[in-house]
Amino acid sequence: MTEHIHSAEPTFEARLIGIRYVARDVNTYEFARPDGAPLQDVEPGAHIDIALPNGLTRQYSLISPGPMPDRYIVAVKRDPQSRGGSRFMHSELRVGQTVTITGPRNNFKLDERAGHTILIAGGIGITPIWCMIERLEQLPQASGSWSLHYSCRTRAEAAFLAELAPHPQVRLNFDDESGQVLDIAAILATSPSDAHLYCCGPAPMLAAFEAATASWPAEQKHVEYFTAKQAPALEGGFVVELKQSGKEFIIPPGKSILEVLRDGGVDVSYSCEQGICGACETRVISGVPEHRDSVLTPAEQAANNTVMICCAGSKTDRLVLDL
Ligand code: FES
Repeated sequence: MTEHIHSAEPTFEARLIGIRYVARDVNTYEFARPDGAPLQDVEPGAHIDIALPNGLTRQYSLISPGPMPDRYIVAVKRDPQSRGGSRFMHSELRVGQTVTITGPRNNFKLDERAGHTILIAGGIGITPIWCMIERLEQLPQASGSWSLHYSCRTRAEAAFLAELAPHPQVRLNFDDESGQVLDIAAILATSPSDAHLYCCGPAPMLAAFEAATASWPAEQKHVEYFTAKQAPALEGGFVVELKQSGKEFIIPPGKSILEVLRDGGVDVSYSCEQGICGACETRVISGVPEHRDSVLTPAEQAANNTVMICCAGSKTDRLVLDL
């Protein structure tokens, strides 16, 4: 089982040192420490939190994996429904400005021992998947094979096409050219049964992936969500006890555990507040959480060892947390 409790990730100032156009409405952004000091290793699937000068914090997957890089590179698509993150990055953030970065954190790890790796990406979901391909290509030839199924509405929106072009195991689908969305069930029907499957893309693609892989072993399925797949549990009506401090809080309807603890002056780490980043993961000592996150696997949720307190409720009257 993946261990999802993380040591505190570093938080530091970083300067935007470059912006590059990679597809329509998609740019890459490169950030380095102002003193040029090396950064923590980049693993495929890892993301960083970027706190922007406009007060918003967003999670972005890293590309270019490797040890102690001198920069972090993320790809950002301008989202027409942007709540201010991607719009600010595209319209206002300028080279030379500084942001605050926390991380990296990895909820979407690549299993490098897999005999075959099947990667499925939709739209800007290609970012962590491209990072996985970069890493898989660094592995010895004798390591497992991989294939990519990458779907976008149009060719113009597809990032990293030039980088993907030399790889014959890349299959592209453009909805406006093929007249159909990617048929994930058909892809999996011809896949080796021991393959590891990775999917990152818009919510309908992830739902199709989850449906098509329902009978696959959980340890071979890997999904990354960028929007919450479930609404938070805000029914309230239970008590949260903090074991370390001995404090107790009543969680009222309409509030998350995280909000109540924050209002009560408890120092807890958090970022997305949507159950997708993993920053607020907290160890459970007793009680049964009502999980609503998109980070823990079903087995991890069933084990009830940890909980994402930004979105979870409680099935028991009392939830005792290791805080
Ligand atoms: S703050 Fe991101 S999962 Fe809770």
